[in-house]
Amino acid sequence: MAILLTRPVLGIESSCDETATAVLDPTGRVLAEAVHSQETDHAPFGGVVPEIAARAHLAVLPGQIRQVMARAGLNFADLGGVAASAGPGLIGGLIVGSQVAKGIAIAHRLPYVAVNHLEAHALTARLPGLVPDGAAFPYLLLLVSGGHCQCVAVEGVGQYVRLGGTIDDAAGEAFDKVAKLLGLGWPGGPVLERLAASGDSARHDFPRPLLRRSGCDFSFSGLKTAVAREVAKHPPGALPVSQAANIAASFQRAVAEVLADRAGNAMAMMRDRDPAARLLVVAGGVAANGAVRAALTREAEARGFIMVAPPVRFCTDNAVMVAWAGLERLRLGWTDGLDFAPRPRWPLDSEGMFRGVA
Ligand code: KG4
Ligand code: ZN
Repeated sequence: MAILLTRPVLGIESSCDETATAVLDPTGRVLAEAVHSQETDHAPFGGVVPEIAARAHLAVLPGQIRQVMARAGLNFADLGGVAASAGPGLIGGLIVGSQVAKGIAIAHRLPYVAVNHLEAHALTARLPGLVPDGAAFPYLLLLVSGGHCQCVAVEGVGQYVRLGGTIDDAAGEAFDKVAKLLGLGWPGGPVLERLAASGDSARHDFPRPLLRRSGCDFSFSGLKTAVAREVAKHPPGALPVSQAANIAASFQRAVAEVLADRAGNAMAMMRDRDPAARLLVVAGGVAANGAVRAALTREAEARGFIMVAPPVRFCTDNAVMVAWAGLERLRLGWTDGLDFAPRPRWPLDSEGMFRGVA
């Protein structure tokens, strides 16, 4: 049954290495939000350390929630619901966010929503004001982050069809691994993009895995291996910056071309499912990459689609998207029991995501 929401919704994100809190009013307007990145905690280890992440969420979240509520000028009793990412992700962090959300829900007798983090990415484009005229269903989602790389037909809240995905690394993971090979630090995507700006993208003809094959699966491990072989031609630490820049630019170009090619097939598949589909939404950290965005924009235009990427702060992990997904579910009257256990793995097209027509 559709429900008229009249109170704000609190959202909590803690599935990976961002601790985030947001409060949205019932129309989706952001009343207050905060994102704490744990980047400096994990950087010395060259990647996210799950135990450090869980402890950092626990240390930061309670104070962050108090601050965000204060900035929004709200008490918990003013809320209409609490939503938290409950998977997929690192179990320690998911437990922290879910338990805090459940505690608030119990103490203030509020509805609780266990949000699928991927659904939160998928529905972000529907935040009021992000896409001109709104992102009406159905649309195609290309999710390209450090942990995910998939094409999804978004047909309604809870209604997702996975059209294809990576068979090995995620696109962001490939950026991170290549950046590490080049000695650029972590996370690698933004630094690699900066270095690539001064390089020649035609210098190395790296492989484009699965290019021009049917379907929209992805593969990046062969490309990463080819880069590793190129880097290994130089003694450790002796790769000149100009040559590192050529490698970075050539790698970035290969990824952009592969993503555009695969997304092109996904757009054709989407059209077959629904001839009215015309929107390609790109989300996840890799959507911040200029070369990737340009290649996807060109491909979308060639296929009569419009490509939109939410602003970078909504593309990367945040709690606004979690609160929004909670809001979309609460409007449909879909809530979760306090016995809902967080799920490290939770595919978007799992049973139970859709609860029926309002
Ligand atoms: O969505 P996100 O913040 O976190 C998750 O993985 O869920 O994405 C982070 C990923 C990292 O792998 C990072 O290297 C990549 O997105 N990334 C980029 C850029 N900015 C972030 N990759 C390429 N170019 C960028 N400018
Ligand atoms: Zn994410």
